[in-house]
Amino acid sequence: MSVKSESWGSRVGLILAMAGNAVGLGNFLRFPVQAVQNGGGAFIIPYLVCFLLMGIPLLYIEWASGRFGGKFGNHSTPYILDSMVKGRILKYIGVFGIFTNVAVAAYYCYIESWTMSYVYHSLAGTFEGMSQSGVAGFFDSYVDIAQSTTGIPFEAVIFYILCLLLNTYILSKGLGGIEKVAKIGMPLLILFGMILAIRGLTLGTSGASDLFPDANAWDGLNFLWTPQYSSLLDLKVWMAAAGQIFFTLSVGMGTIHCYAAYMKPKDDIALNAVSAGFMNEFVEVVLGSLIVIPIAAGYLGLDWVIENAGFGMAFQTMPYLFQQWGPLLAALAGLFWFGLLFFAGITSSLAMGTPWMGFMRDEFNWGRNKGAWSFGLLILVMGLPTVLFFKQGVFDEYDYWAGTVSLVVFAMLETILFSWIFGMKKGWAEITSGADIKVPSIYKFIIKFVTPIMLIIIFLGSLFKPLNNDWSGNISSLFSGNGWKLDNGSIIKTITHAGIREKIALATDPAVISQLEENIFYINIARFLLIGLFIFISSLVYIAFQKRRREGRATL
Ligand code: TRP
Repeated sequence: MSVKSESWGSRVGLILAMAGNAVGLGNFLRFPVQAVQNGGGAFIIPYLVCFLLMGIPLLYIEWASGRFGGKFGNHSTPYILDSMVKGRILKYIGVFGIFTNVAVAAYYCYIESWTMSYVYHSLAGTFEGMSQSGVAGFFDSYVDIAQSTTGIPFEAVIFYILCLLLNTYILSKGLGGIEKVAKIGMPLLILFGMILAIRGLTLGTSGASDLFPDANAWDGLNFLWTPQYSSLLDLKVWMAAAGQIFFTLSVGMGTIHCYAAYMKPKDDIALNAVSAGFMNEFVEVVLGSLIVIPIAAGYLGLDWVIENAGFGMAFQTMPYLFQQWGPLLAALAGLFWFGLLFFAGITSSLAMGTPWMGFMRDEFNWGRNKGAWSFGLLILVMGLPTVLFFKQGVFDEYDYWAGTVSLVVFAMLETILFSWIFGMKKGWAEITSGADIKVPSIYKFIIKFVTPIMLIIIFLGSLFKPLNNDWSGNISSLFSGNGWKLDNGSIIKTITHAGIREKIALATDPAVISQLEENIFYINIARFLLIGLFIFISSLVYIAFQKRRREGRATL
């Protein structure tokens, strides 16, 4: 018998926890960058279409699968899938649903730990009087562990470990702990976000300071929100939009299944799933677009934003811009901005801990403490390389395989299993049972046909991404018999390090060459760790299967 299973304290708690899982660093750091890099208003329409045709269907599929598996006492995807479909090996598809969470948590907690450190430095006044390049340099020094000059030796490692300890401690309190953090963190996040968004909106059209007279905050907003219909034909934009929808809604990861497995069998899915989903979209498209882009455009101009859009913008630029508001407001803005990022991050990283803990409890009777601490340890082992060898590309490698490719693979496979093998008849009954609203019946058709086809296209598209991401050029080249040229960012070419090898071939400086070769070495270690993790979890699933068989609980 397993330890008595937990369940959510209240409906509000469940929705906030689910929204907290979805609302994360992706909403504030990834969304604005994706939008800017894909042409601003050109991005928004494909993004919203992907939300309706892929995001919402996947939310329904995952909530329904999770609640279904929960009825049989299964709280992680290997055995949730096993309770839905027959076939001994199908449960190994569910390994993705634990693997992705552990591997993403490893690098995600690193960003989360930056937000903790930046709250501290904002309050301590570290950024006071620093130039723009000074603030950017601070970040570079921070991630350069051995040479770091941030004032605290090994600061990045220290904050990383603090961050893991905090996550582990809260996880050891079980669902109640997660619910409490979500109930405090989500409202605070929205409050901080609103304050900063109002600031972003009121910076105005005339250059926010004498230093940058031509800059204009509204340029940033107009760029994002002027729809460009021509983009509808650009597959590159569609792929980016789809990728963002996955990451931001936390679909294709196994986390939602796990949270939903702790619902009661009669609880509503239809309304809860869209409530949490829409809350995420509000935070993303409203708050996420009203902070970094207008503030950066207001001071530095739209051209600067387009040129410099990147993950580091939030850390390398914002503290400098806040300084323009005087030391007191700068400290407060730093607290709000990095505090907001921290709450966004922790409600997501806690969610990533639950599939592992649920699995170990269901199969091996591990209690909360053992589950939480073993998760913390696993993250430490997987995560330290991303901290220590950040510059060598370990972090990006994790993000590529676990934070991008895995999501698509798992979402595609689970949708096919749900719609076609579990079957849409049972599936629809699951989605609508206990429903507090009527789900439009068009979704029956969308979930059965549209979503799986879109997912298959996206999967094939990333496998065979065309050279320079130029879809129309490559499609015509294919039809005129000139073949399909793969981009270095395609899954196939990434495997062979084609991009780095090309750079090595072009480089002349021996120092650059040896640096690149060193990167290949570390990236291979990252892959070794990721594959090792996948095999490790698969063997646990196998051992659990043997155990279930001995106990007469196996389904096959
Ligand atoms: N949705 C989160 C964000 O926007 C990220 C996230 C939450 C996630 N849970 C996850 C990523 C599980 C991978 C796996 O930042």
